[in-house]
Amino acid sequence: MSADLITPDPKPSKSRSGLIGRVKRAQEWWYREFRRIIGAWVFALVLLFIGTIMVVLVDTTDFLFSTNVFCGTVCHVMESTVYKELQESTHWTTPTGVRATCADCHVSGRLSLAMVDHFIGTGELFVWMTNDFSKPGAFEEFRPAAANRERFKMLGNNSETCAHCHVMEGIKPERIRGQNAHKDAIDRNIPCIACHFNLTHKEVEPSEAFLNAVEQYLGQGEETTEEEVTPDESGEEPAAGAEEVL
Ligand code: HEC
Ligand code: HEC
Ligand code: HEC
Repeated sequence: MSADLITPDPKPSKSRSGLIGRVKRAQEWWYREFRRIIGAWVFALVLLFIGTIMVVLVDTTDFLFSTNVFCGTVCHVMESTVYKELQESTHWTTPTGVRATCADCHVSGRLSLAMVDHFIGTGELFVWMTNDFSKPGAFEEFRPAAANRERFKMLGNNSETCAHCHVMEGIKPERIRGQNAHKDAIDRNIPCIACHFNLTHKEVEPSEAFLNAVEQYLGQGEETTEEEVTPDESGEEPAAGAEEVL
């Protein structure tokens, strides 16, 4: 009897303490998980915050380094040469006022690739620092090589910057010669620069290497190209600038 009092019925008490223990464990488990979940959220938010700042920084960098003011005038060498030439070119004053900036033609449209272009562009800064450009005409010594590099780049990337504005299928050249050349260009995916070099800046004689590379594109299917492109079927005088087109 007394023994019964001292030692409580093992059955109910066991299940009760078992229940409390389970609730306690569940509670602890939840607190632990809760802290983990909160921790994960704080971590994600911090990452998001840093990410946002990075995107804004990258975007601002691209914006600043893509302006005509930066590309064309920060470095005075450009102001009196390529920038001036652009202002006198067909891409500055246009029938509809659509005007091309340096970056439209020279910097990739994708932000990540644009950053690569900006980074590579800093190489020009090095050239500028290590050479004396104060003499008039000093730039001309560097121009042929620079033009050649730019042409090869546009050949290699399928002149993708031109496509920021021009859609090949949307161009209707006025004259038969151009129409045939463009049909050929579409059929064989020929980059714009293969035919339209000496576009905006002072004329530069194409290098032997560039002409050979162009020949790689134009050469295949020579029979058809030659007879289609060469005769000027419209019978007009070639338009100004037509000689820059092969
Ligand atoms: C910012 C947009 C833009 C970009 C980028 C651009 N163009 Fe143009 N392009 C124009 C506009 C606008 C005109 C003049 C209006 C017209 O005739 O349609 C024009 C005219 C031309 C012409 C006819 C006039 C001429 O100079 O013979 C050619 C050829 C041409 N572009 C080729 C190119 C090539 C090649 C590239 C790439 C290196 C390029 N464009 C990049 C907007 C652009
Ligand atoms: C296979 C050579 C070839 C390729 C490649 C080519 N073009 Fe042309 N394009 C021509 C010729 C030739 C003309 C006519 C020029 C003329 O009649 O004075 C022309 C004319 C034009 C014109 C002026 C239209 C007009 O008013 O007659 C524009 C703009 C133009 N091209 C843009 C481009 C762009 C942008 C690309 C690349 C997407 C490109 N072309 C690729 C050969 C080419
Ligand atoms: C409509 C397209 C277009 C625009 C806009 C443009 N360029 Fe160019 N640029 C070219 C092409 C194409 C070449 C390759 C040379 C050639 O065949 O004309 C080139 C070449 C160059 C070169 C090499 C030297 C030379 O004379 O060929 C420099 C430097 C240059 N560009 C800087 C600039 C700067 C700075 C701006 C803005 C002020 C600018 N470009 C605007 C198309 C453009």
